[in-house]
Amino acid sequence: MKLKIVALISIMLPACAMEGHEESKKTNKETIMDQHSYAKPAESVVTHLKWDAVVDFENKKIDGVATLHLKNSDDAKEVILDTKALNIEKVLVGKKEVKFTLGEADKNLGSALTIPIKSSTDSVTIYYSTSEGAEALQWLTPMQTAGKKHPFLFTQSQAILARSWVPIQDSPGIRFTYEADVKVPSELLALMSAENPQEKNDKGEYHFVMDRPIPAYLLALSVGDLEFEPIGDRSGVYAEPSVIDAAAYEFEDLEEMISAAESLYGPYQWGRYDLLVLPPSFPFGGMENPKLTFATPTILAGDKSLTSLVAHELAHSWSGNLVTNATWNDFWLNEGFTVYFENRIMEKMYGRDFSEMEASLAYQGLVAEIDDMKNNGSGDDTKLKLDLSNRNPDDGVTSIAYDKGYLFLRSQEEKVGREKFDAFVKDYFTSNAFSVMTTEEFIDLLDKNLYQKNGLIMDTAKINEWIYKPGLPTDAPKPTSDKFAKVDEQMSRFLTETEASDLDVEGWSSQEWLHFVRSIPANLTKDQMKALDDAFGFTKSGNSEVLTEWLVQSIRHNYEASFDELIHFLVNTGRRKFLMPLYQEMVNSECCASMATSIYATARPNYHFVSTNSLDELLNYNK
Ligand code: BES
Ligand code: ZN
Repeated sequence: MKLKIVALISIMLPACAMEGHEESKKTNKETIMDQHSYAKPAESVVTHLKWDAVVDFENKKIDGVATLHLKNSDDAKEVILDTKALNIEKVLVGKKEVKFTLGEADKNLGSALTIPIKSSTDSVTIYYSTSEGAEALQWLTPMQTAGKKHPFLFTQSQAILARSWVPIQDSPGIRFTYEADVKVPSELLALMSAENPQEKNDKGEYHFVMDRPIPAYLLALSVGDLEFEPIGDRSGVYAEPSVIDAAAYEFEDLEEMISAAESLYGPYQWGRYDLLVLPPSFPFGGMENPKLTFATPTILAGDKSLTSLVAHELAHSWSGNLVTNATWNDFWLNEGFTVYFENRIMEKMYGRDFSEMEASLAYQGLVAEIDDMKNNGSGDDTKLKLDLSNRNPDDGVTSIAYDKGYLFLRSQEEKVGREKFDAFVKDYFTSNAFSVMTTEEFIDLLDKNLYQKNGLIMDTAKINEWIYKPGLPTDAPKPTSDKFAKVDEQMSRFLTETEASDLDVEGWSSQEWLHFVRSIPANLTKDQMKALDDAFGFTKSGNSEVLTEWLVQSIRHNYEASFDELIHFLVNTGRRKFLMPLYQEMVNSECCASMATSIYATARPNYHFVSTNSLDELLNYNK
């Protein structure tokens, strides 16, 4: 039976969730639908979570007690929570045990947990444990860590996986504060998306407080043999002991980055900003967990060349974490704004030449992906406003939200000029802090606060084209880089018989190298591949972006000299953005399709659910 799932979200913030903080200026009672949550917040909405948990590495489970504080309507009869593969032991309303119902499990959404309440009910308490199928959690053996001595656990909740480790209303439109008491083995440190400890204690007991309301997808926990190293007064980095020095060096400019961000769009609102460098199986480059960005170790290039990823996650502290997409159909509001903000931070820190290289690389990727999507029948997903009903919200994680979203905002900047656009964006973050945003409300705000306020007229037809039509408008901004034009010249020289070692590559940044490797034509011979590799050492590149691009080219050109490195990289890295193009290229190739299957069989146990979920489909893997 197909379940019909429709959750209503009130975009009015519960007043108690704002206690001690700025009152929400909005009393917008309009309700919007989140198809990815069972919650009915208009009847009963979670405002605070008190979480007690014991992390059990032996049995790979968390035993938890979640007390949820509620705000109810006058005629409230039940509160509905999202859960996925949780073992619910008992439920209390106040102090009294009650009968609850756990609905049928949907593949994407999990099961609704329905608890009978009265309008006067303050809180419900759920005793539960996680199961082996907890999709947010990755339990690592000691061998899967840098130190090889201790196990490790981390969570990845976005988009709708928080429900697999906490029973909660798992919708980006619902915000709550939280506190937690977490017990872990005494040789390990626990960290959350909250106020964090900086060192271990003998008992292995840690207390956490997040006093600003956040949506469930920003709940995060990590447990491992971790150390802390301060960077600035309000920033620092956590990593395994053998990684901490490299991490502290790579992120040395973090404080400057935070200041650059603040100078653009207003004060950082979350107190501390720390980074956590995870083991390499982390499925994303970064995840903007409040106060503590989770990051992949693949950005430790040794030369600070990949820190735009930190700018990106930091920017989410405004776009996404302060002003949050109302549903996953509005995902571009989180990511497009963040890419725009990231680009502005990079421009401020390293100059326009640099940020235009990054924008050009993204543009190339976007054009190629739009083409692919149109050819494989997902043309509708090239619209900014998505329709993800009855689908996994992960389907919306494409460069559309990121880079088409970015270009749309850049088109608005170019239309009205930077000064007016920046004033609009800054006010947008301030006026809508700790609240949710729909695409439609954003367009309204754009009209009122950017156009009308400045005596300008918004071109509604054009805006609608950007938001509701597939592909890119013909007049979309097209980032161009003079530096890349020079890289192209060197590639032409190489293709017309100049020795690789005679090319003029002096002082190239990793962005220029990336562009160079991307421009390798399909008909390059294996000898030419070898000549490039001999001259520039691509197979040994310490820059994971350049290496991935090179390995893609190696598969395409059946350049076998890189295959050992390819296997090593795939077995030891779990970042989906790198895995997908590499496996995809093998699947498409004549040389390497069966190699893909055999590597995957070895590597799969090292990957997080987020990555295996995508790769199982690509590789037709039968669990
Ligand atoms: N919030 C995203 C990661 C994400 C998106 C997780 C959707 C789950 C569902 C994060 O901010 C992100 O965009 N990461 C990118 C960074 C890059 C664009 C700089 C990544 O992981 O590659
Ligand atoms: Zn992001």
